[in-house]
Amino acid sequence: MATEQSPLLDHCPSSLPGNAYFDENWYAREQCLIWQKEWVYAGRLNDLPIGKMRPLKIGKMGIMLCRLSETEVVAYHNICRHRGSELCRVEQPLGKTISCPYHAWSYAAADGHLVSTAHATPTADFHKEENGLFPVATMLWNGFIFINAADEPSPFIPDLGLETYDNWPMASLVTGHKSVRNLNCNWKVFWENYNECLHCPSIHPELSDLVPIYREGLMSESERQDWSPRKTPGNALKEGAVTWTFDGQPCGPIFLDLTKAQIKKAANFVTIYPSTYIVAHVDYVRIVSLVPTSPETTQLTAEWLFSPATMKQIEFDPSEVAAFASIVLEQDAEAAEMNQRGLRSPRFEAGRLMPQEFYIHNFHQWVRQRLNVN
Ligand code: FES
Ligand SMILES: [Fe+2]
Repeated sequence: MATEQSPLLDHCPSSLPGNAYFDENWYAREQCLIWQKEWVYAGRLNDLPIGKMRPLKIGKMGIMLCRLSETEVVAYHNICRHRGSELCRVEQPLGKTISCPYHAWSYAAADGHLVSTAHATPTADFHKEENGLFPVATMLWNGFIFINAADEPSPFIPDLGLETYDNWPMASLVTGHKSVRNLNCNWKVFWENYNECLHCPSIHPELSDLVPIYREGLMSESERQDWSPRKTPGNALKEGAVTWTFDGQPCGPIFLDLTKAQIKKAANFVTIYPSTYIVAHVDYVRIVSLVPTSPETTQLTAEWLFSPATMKQIEFDPSEVAAFASIVLEQDAEAAEMNQRGLRSPRFEAGRLMPQEFYIHNFHQWVRQRLNVN
């Protein structure tokens, strides 16, 4: 029997229906009710130079991010109020105004108000103050930029709280490596795979070698039948290993302020639906983010962040560090694509979750709640 505090489910719930993974209408509802309403990762502050603006896409929604100063980033919908043209096509210098490349209306970069209608002369029924850029909320957290396109954004709350990474020097980390992969699967299939380790023994031999508990298909000790919250967790990694690299050794100095528990854990995950998870190790940090590009395709981006001290080491090669998790990500990508091919069959109605898939159930409930479906 599961103990009272165990996260294991006490039943085997149904998963989402098959059409949730390919149906255009379902996808359109998710765009409206999830992707245009929730906080979505938009890149590292360090990677958007002051005085630059950059376009990005979330589903069909175009956004432009503008770095005004050291500490200020603003975002707008990437559409002109004249006749709807895209305003920002590539990363480019940002002046005091943003000018439409079509008929040259211009808007103030700092607050989006309409400055000029260029060669056009409006009549008295046109009010400039009603025709500024549509704003998008921004949030800076630990050097990560998040955006929210809702009219009234909900509070930004990572699953483990805002203070989780207080012991990491997050804001000062720099991006040492980045990879982008297009997945042939619905975005939710990626999250389902992320949320369980039953696949670890068969899909991830290298990771299961490094993290002994993964060999048993478990994510943590709390999933054991005899688990008690009073037991102190041991080291998560195999003997002699301290971090997620091929040899288990750190790629640079260990972050100074980590607690013993954070060091023992070796991988400190934070999940921010619908777009992102972050995993902080003792020597580097990885952020994985996704955006749906169609009902059955998803763009996945992974970034590896290091301290400036680590980056300065002679002969340091961030891509060598990245190679370890890249293998794991590729294994997960192939598993997710295999899953998508199967659930595309008209015979598939819905799956059944096992007690160990409590995080997937939570994710499904999160989705159902937002779409208002059972
Ligand atoms: S569409 Fe932008 S100025 Fe005409
Ligand atoms: Fe995996």
